[in-house]
Parts: sequence; structure tokens; C-alpha cells
Amino acid sequence: MSEKVCTGQVCIVTGANSGIGYHTAKGLAERGATVVMVVRNMDKGETAMEEIKQATGASSVYLMHCDVSDVASVDRFTKAFKERFMCLNVLINNAGAAFSKRQETEAGFEKTIATNYLGVFRLTNNLLAMLRETEPSRIINISSGMHKTGKIDFDDIMMEKKYASMKQYANSKLIVTTFTYALARRLVGTGVTANVVEPGFVATNLGRNMGGLRDRIAFTIVRPIQISAEKGAETSIWAATASEIEGISGKTFAKRKETESAEITYDEEIQDRLWDWTLKTLGEHPD
Ligand SMILES: NC(=O)c1ccc[n+]([C@@H]2O[C@H](COP(=O)([O-])OP(=O)(O)OC[C@H]3O[C@@H](n4cnc5c(N)ncnc54)[C@H](OP(=O)(O)O)[C@@H]3O)[C@@H](O)[C@H]2O)c1
Repeated sequence: MSEKVCTGQVCIVTGANSGIGYHTAKGLAERGATVVMVVRNMDKGETAMEEIKQATGASSVYLMHCDVSDVASVDRFTKAFKERFMCLNVLINNAGAAFSKRQETEAGFEKTIATNYLGVFRLTNNLLAMLRETEPSRIINISSGMHKTGKIDFDDIMMEKKYASMKQYANSKLIVTTFTYALARRLVGTGVTANVVEPGFVATNLGRNMGGLRDRIAFTIVRPIQISAEKGAETSIWAATASEIEGISGKTFAKRKETESAEITYDEEIQDRLWDWTLKTLGEHPD
């Protein structure tokens, strides 16, 4: 086997073939990082990687497969990553989605929660030992200002009773922010930080599966006030690279500044309850 890679700052960006993830990967490549673009669609990923290499002149850009909504795929990806790379400085859990109708993954998880949270939890925990060995290192989870309209209903996190796309998206983002703070508490003293980024209101493909026709029309109408995906990636790139936030953990950043998240996200009892629920839901991870 060829030698494992550990050059420059090794950064993983999930959902890197379009939107905010694409521009995050591009921005990091421009700054000389070794970028691992993690995608579920390898054809789209290949095109995106070639565009980034051409535009930036960077050669240390890699493409790997992972469907973050599928726990087995996450486990395969993290195993393959550890076989190929020796260190990990930055993990950006950017991949995200919304679904107009309730869908379940093969494992039986509601797909919004599976994509926007369960995959993030599993992927991060699978790579935690490597992040600890590489310290100082950073975990950045992409949430949304919409989390403030969400709820954590421990009796129905998979929204089996009455599914609503926008609500479940907001719930998943509230959960991922709460998880990030729970993780930051568990990482105190390790040299690994865990923070949240809210990218703002960004013109991407995200709205395409969100809600019904009315929501999709609303998304089209508001396009002119949305910022570009390139601008939307700025805070992710900053959170991954800025020296002024070295060692800072358990925070939410928007527009390259610290911002408050919903009150419930700071509740340590809720954080621990969520952690326990997740371990029970996902079962043992392979490490
Ligand atoms: N746009 C906004 O206004 C906004 C606001 C706040 C937060 N965010 C968050 O920002 C992040 C990026 O979204 P975006 O706006 O850039 O939307 P986007 O253009 O739709 O990008 C989402 C990316 O995630 C990937 N993805 C979706 N499901 C996946 C899965 N199961 N496995 C692997 N990759 C998957 C998509 O891949 P495919 O190309 O294969 O679909 C795509 O590359 C998301 O977490 C989103 O929730 C966006």
C-alpha cells in the first residue's frame, strides 16, 4: 500500500460537491490545505474536484464516498479514510438535506435526522481518536438559524406521528447544535474543539426538497435576498482556519462572530439525554 497522507492541514468536508460545501472545500484548497471531499455521488464529486483543482492549482484534493444518512456507509468511509490518511486536523460536517415527504433509511431512521444528525454523530465519533492524536484539531458542524424554531421531542425524534418537512429540518439542526455542545464538554482538555457554524440564508440547492409547493415557491421568491454559496462558505472556512479561535470550543459562529443559539442547546441535562438516546439508537460504533 502507498504511504499514508499527512501533509498540510488535512480537512474533511462532507457534502462537498455543491453549494456551501463545494466553496468550503475550494477555499481550504486555495489556502493550501489537504482537502478530502466526501460525497455520495461520485460522478458529481469527480466534476467538482476537477473544477476545484483547476481553479486553485491545488493538487492535494481527494474524493471519497460516503452517504452520511447510512450508518454502514459512514463506517465504511471512516475505515477507508484511516487506511489512507494518517492525521485529521479539521472535520467539517456540512452535508445536509430536507425531505418533503417522510422517508426512512435502510436502518429504519427518518431521513432528515439520519442525514443531518445521526450521520454526523457516527462519523465524528468514528474519527475522534484520530482528531485527538492530531491535536490541535477542529470539528465544525453546520447548523442553521432555523434551529431556533425546532423542538427536541424525545418521544418522537423520528417524527412518526405527524411529519412536516420544515419542522423536522429545524429539529435536526437544533439537535446537531445541542450535540456539538455536548461533544465540546466531552473534549475539554484534549486539544480538539467542537463548534457550530450557521452559514446564513444562502442560494443553494437545499430548498429543492423542502416542504410542499408553497415552500418551494417561497424559496424561489426569496432568492434575490439570499447570499451566494461562496459567501455562505466564509464562516466555515474561517472557523476551520482562524488563529484567533484556536482552543475555543462549544460555540456557535455566524458571519465570523460568536452568536447565541437557542436556550435549550445549553441545557446539559438535555445534551446528556440526547447523547444517551443517540447511543441507544445507533448501537455500538466499530472502534
Ligand atoms: N442554504 C442555506 O440557506 C443554509 C442555511 C443554513 C444552513 N445550511 C446548511 O448548510 C449545509 C450545506 O447545504 P447547502 O445549502 O450548500 O445545500 P446543497 O447545495 O443542497 O448541498 C448539500 C450537500 O450535502 C450533500 N448531501 C445531502 N445528503 C447527503 C448524504 N446523505 N450523504 C452525503 N452527502 C449528502 C449534497 O449532495 P448531493 O449533491 O448528492 O445532493 C450536497 O453536496 C447543510 O447542512 C445545510 O443544512 C444551509
